[in-house]
Amino acid sequence: MFIQPTPTLRRSGEALVILDQTGLPWRAEQRQLATLDDVAEAITAMRVRGAPLIGCAAAFGVAVALASGPADDAALDHALAVLRATRPTAVNLAWVLERMAQRLQPLSAHARRAAAWAEAEAIRADDAARCEAIGAHGLSRLRTLPAPAGRPLRVMTHCNAGWLATAGAGTALAPVYAAHAAGLAIEVFVSETRPRLQGLLTAWELAAAGIAHVLSADNAAGHLLTASKIDAVIVGADRIAANGDVANKIGTYLKALAARAAGVPFFVAAPLSTFDAATPNGAAIPIEARADDEVLTITGLDADGERRSVRLAAMGTRAANPAFDVTPAALVTAFVTERGLVEPAQLSYFLRNAATCFNPRP
Ligand code: MRU
Repeated sequence: MFIQPTPTLRRSGEALVILDQTGLPWRAEQRQLATLDDVAEAITAMRVRGAPLIGCAAAFGVAVALASGPADDAALDHALAVLRATRPTAVNLAWVLERMAQRLQPLSAHARRAAAWAEAEAIRADDAARCEAIGAHGLSRLRTLPAPAGRPLRVMTHCNAGWLATAGAGTALAPVYAAHAAGLAIEVFVSETRPRLQGLLTAWELAAAGIAHVLSADNAAGHLLTASKIDAVIVGADRIAANGDVANKIGTYLKALAARAAGVPFFVAAPLSTFDAATPNGAAIPIEARADDEVLTITGLDADGERRSVRLAAMGTRAANPAFDVTPAALVTAFVTERGLVEPAQLSYFLRNAATCFNPRP
C-alpha cells in the first residue's frame, strides 16, 4: 500500500490541515483551515488541487463548515453551494458534494457534525483505495508494452496526477509508483505545465521517490515523443464525458495528438468518480478560465532563496488562460480505472456495469 510521505490533507480537531501546494516545490508547509471560507479559498487558490483531492477537500470542507457554525438545512445547503462554486471542471467535486448531501440531509442537525467527519474520512480512504487499484491495473498494462532493450520503460506524463493530487498514490503516477516498487526500471518525462507549473510538483514527487525523470518545456513534447522512444503517455483527468472525451490540464490534447502521430499509446488514468455520465461529450464540459496574471507572470526563487513573482509580458498584453482542454475519446488508447482498463468504444457498457459498485452521480 502506498503511504503518502506527507498527508495531502488530514483532520485536526475541528479543522482540516492541508499540505499547501502553492509553496511547492520549494517549501512543504502545512496550513490549517478552520472555516468554510478557508477551505473554499484553498481549493480556488489551488493550495489543494488535482481532481480527486479537490473532492476530498470539499468533503472535509462540509465537515469544517458544520463544525464551525450552524448545522441546520440552510447551513448545509450554503456549504454545499460555496464549495460547488470553487472550481468548475473537475467532476469529483460535484460527485463528492452529492454524496455528502445524500448522507447528511436526512440527519438531524445534531447528528450531522459527526456524520460529516466520518463521511469525509470514508471518501478519503475510498480515494486512496481507488488509486492503489489504478496503480495495479496500470502496472499490468505497462508490462504488456514491448520490452525496451537495454533501457528503462519511458513514460510521458503531463501536469501532476501523483500523490499530491489525491488521497493516495495518484492516478497517472500510481502505475509508475507500482512499477518502481515492483523493480521495473522506469523513467518519466515530465512537462513543466505552464502556467501553474504542476510538472514541478511531479518532478518533486518523483525525485523524493528516487524515480528517474526528466523535466521539459511543454512544447518539447512532440519532439520527445518522436525522438526519445517513449513507450506510453499516461495522464490523469478532471472529467470524462459519457462518450469518453477527456478534460484534463491544458496541454493534454496536444500530447494526445502528438502521441497518436508518433504511434505511442495514450492512457488516461482516473477513478470512476471522474467519469460523468450526465455530460454527453467534451463540448459540454465547463472549462475553467483562470486569471490572466498566471500567464503574464512567473514565480520562482531568487538568488537569496526568496520567493518572487516577476512579470514576463509587456505591460498591456492580454492573456488567455484556459486551465483545461478536451482530448477527444478517439485519441485515447484506454482508460485505466480502479476496476481495470477499458477502451473508449466499450466505455458506456463498462460504466453501466460499474455503476452499481461505485454509486456514481444520478
Ligand atoms: O488545475 P489542477 O492542478 O487542479 O489540475 C490537475 C489536473 O489536471 C490533473 O491532471 C487531474 O486533476 C488529475 S489529478 C489525479
